[in-house]
Amino acid sequence: MSQSKSASILITGATGNVGKELVKYLATKEVPFRAMVRSMDRSKDLESITLPGVEIIKGDFNDPESLENEIKGIEKAFLLTNSSELAEQQQTAFVMAAARAGVKHIVKLSQWAADVNSPVRFLRYHAVIENLIKESGMAYTFLRPNLFMQGLLGFRETIIRQNQFFGAIGDSRISMVHTSDIAAAAGEALTSSAHEGKVYDLTGPESLTHYEMAEKLSAALGRQIEFVDITPNDLKQTLLYVGFTEWQAEGLVEDYAHYKLGEAAEVKSGVREATGKQARSFDFFVNEYASQFSV
Ligand SMILES: NC(=O)c1ccc[n+]([C@@H]2O[C@H](COP(=O)([O-])OP(=O)(O)OC[C@H]3O[C@@H](n4cnc5c(N)ncnc54)[C@H](OP(=O)(O)O)[C@@H]3O)[C@@H](O)[C@H]2O)c1
Repeated sequence: MSQSKSASILITGATGNVGKELVKYLATKEVPFRAMVRSMDRSKDLESITLPGVEIIKGDFNDPESLENEIKGIEKAFLLTNSSELAEQQQTAFVMAAARAGVKHIVKLSQWAADVNSPVRFLRYHAVIENLIKESGMAYTFLRPNLFMQGLLGFRETIIRQNQFFGAIGDSRISMVHTSDIAAAAGEALTSSAHEGKVYDLTGPESLTHYEMAEKLSAALGRQIEFVDITPNDLKQTLLYVGFTEWQAEGLVEDYAHYKLGEAAEVKSGVREATGKQARSFDFFVNEYASQFSV
């Protein structure tokens, strides 16, 4: 891995769910890029990337000075943080630093239905940052994915141990999306000017209830998997138990209340528009990840 600073594309969140897929996508296409990681220990996950011109650098959203340094010379940046109480502040610092450094185009990982007036805190902060990027004068592409299919991996333990997964969504439908499709949309937006000024709603090709997801999972795994609908309060307690902060757990409960209203059920053509390819299905996901849901 080269340490020189020659690439014109910067990837943040490179060690996360979407970022890792994006790193693979760009490497497969032999596109040089710089990946920002907050700890070089975490960069071990990216060691398979041996493409000349790929740079792994240390940078922290909570350290605006480090950001300025990492952004120097960059033309296009992919902006992703995890959702926490700090996300709005972190992303604001990044956008300001990018504008000062002369970045031309930001591809922002946002969320389906981002809106400053949403009752869902994640959707409010994403909308605030989208607006800030628009006001900065930099070109933008906003990727607004629906619930990630890979979120089911959060229930890996209960699916393995008790053949169950949980949610507070009842029988409402949701058009979940595969993280590889989000990464492909980001990769295309970072490597072509055709996506400037675009907002892509990213969904899978179908809208499923969690009961239907359980049926598909059962078929792929060859054993009965049950979806258990729980109350919002039980969902919150479960999320706190597995390590989410209060702010995040309450945010996820808000997310599920919005899903339960059927507000994330529509199937959109964003993946095809951004990538030219059909979105991956939930069947594809469960077959791809089947081994991870069994001992
Ligand atoms: N999950 C869903 O269903 C869903 C749906 C729609 C939209 N979204 C949005 O997707 C985003 C999360 O994407 P994801 O799941 O790919 O995230 P993730 O797996 O949680 O990864 C977060 C990334 O941010 C990095 N990071 C965290 N704090 C940092 C800091 N202080 N400085 C530098 N890097 C830092 C992490 O690095 P480390 O590896 O060092 O921790 C990691 O690479 C959120 O904005 C969320 O709103 C999620």
